[in-house]
Amino acid sequence: MSDLTFPAGFLWGGALAANQAEGGYREGGKGLTTVDMIPHGAARMPVKLGLEKRFSLRDDEYYPSHEAIDFYHRYKEDIALMAEMGFTVFRTSIAWSRLFPRGDEPQPNAEGIAFYRSLFEECKKYGIEPLVTLCHFDVPMHLVVEYGSWRNRKMVDFFARYARTCFEAFDGLVKYWLTFNEINILLHSPFSGAGLVFEEGENQHQVKYQAAHHELVASALATRIAHEVNPANQVGCMLAGGNFYPWSCKPEDVWAALEKDRENLFFIDVQARGAYPAYAARLFREKGVTLEMADQDAEILKHSVDFVSFSYYASRCASAEMNEQNSSAANVVKSLTNPHIKRSDWGWGIDPLGLRITMNMMYDRYQKPLFLVENGLGAQDKVEADGSINDDYRISYLREHIRAMAQAIDDGVPVMGYTTWGCIDLVAASTGEMSKRYGFVYVDRDDLGRGSLARSRKKSFWWYKKVIASNGRDLGA
Ligand code: BG6
Repeated sequence: MSDLTFPAGFLWGGALAANQAEGGYREGGKGLTTVDMIPHGAARMPVKLGLEKRFSLRDDEYYPSHEAIDFYHRYKEDIALMAEMGFTVFRTSIAWSRLFPRGDEPQPNAEGIAFYRSLFEECKKYGIEPLVTLCHFDVPMHLVVEYGSWRNRKMVDFFARYARTCFEAFDGLVKYWLTFNEINILLHSPFSGAGLVFEEGENQHQVKYQAAHHELVASALATRIAHEVNPANQVGCMLAGGNFYPWSCKPEDVWAALEKDRENLFFIDVQARGAYPAYAARLFREKGVTLEMADQDAEILKHSVDFVSFSYYASRCASAEMNEQNSSAANVVKSLTNPHIKRSDWGWGIDPLGLRITMNMMYDRYQKPLFLVENGLGAQDKVEADGSINDDYRISYLREHIRAMAQAIDDGVPVMGYTTWGCIDLVAASTGEMSKRYGFVYVDRDDLGRGSLARSRKKSFWWYKKVIASNGRDLGA
């Protein structure tokens, strides 16, 4: 038994996202979204990054989001499994295009609303609080094609209408909301992050930061609307987190790490503090960015979030000499390879202490409760002859990160809850693979969409059930 404790009422659960789990990509009146256009295989990256324009589907490609793990039809069975583990919170996202298939309609699609009502009611049946992301990597394609997605100011109104619809339609069922998943990923993966596609020769920084401004205004507006609809609503921002370590104590490396952290924290600085940070002026000047801001924007931005949520997979590392050649992407953000930490099968660092460091930094900076809404190990699982899956590596990763989170709580950081990523196996956002598995529940499906989609419990399923039952005291070692 661990001697570190979690507060009473701490929320334990897991997370997924519509675009990586639901499938049913044209069912119930749903429109096409950005992720529906991103193929599996070699062509994936240029599309994700917004370097290749893909506005129509091709017959010779496989699109993993189209069926994903068929959560759209199997959510009752899946929620029952989460309930069996003792979840008190379940994070998922609403597919914007199920409610507004094109994105710019005046009225929502009733079938989409009915689907999510039923899903949230199913959670409530088991005493599970839904934690709902409004936009997790899926912008309706019509908004991309017609309006240029978030480069266009009109998106603020479309998003505000969508957000209001959700707060009103699911009032009484959902009280924890996130506006944009990993909002900083807009800089690193512009099409999957924000539906941006670049024209040749344009200043990409200008496009990205103008789009970021629109998202930040939309997020603040949604926060305001959530509070208007029901003051009990709690709204969070969401960061793809993980501090940058300096490669060495050379002052130039320390500065490079600070700058890299700011690149990502820029978004949260606005969402949690209600205004642009002081360093933004120089950042914009150096990148040749001139923001177009409407008169009311500064006022809208003051509607800061109630809590700060984040994903944490690994820490990062930067030096003054960092460049395209000596760095590689883990969770999309480029980093040097830190020789002091281990790596996963996919080359992502494994650094539990980095989680404690990140959480302390974030609370020092924002003084708002934190919510760790994504954490986990993407690994290859082996199904034994008797059907069992012995994922000790996943248990060990999660155990060490839960310990680090408990230590951060002991350091004085208030933490609302913990949702592991991909509590049931789903499609990987970066690679589109199914073989990169995060779940407590295994899904019989491979990288090319073959398999029965049957669900089965892994060893970690029973382990996490005990963690939850003991409120984090029994970590199994
Ligand atoms: C985060 C995303 O970037 O990391 C998730 O919010 C994603 O959507 C997760 O799935 C893990 O990344 P990947 O590429 O292993 O799926």
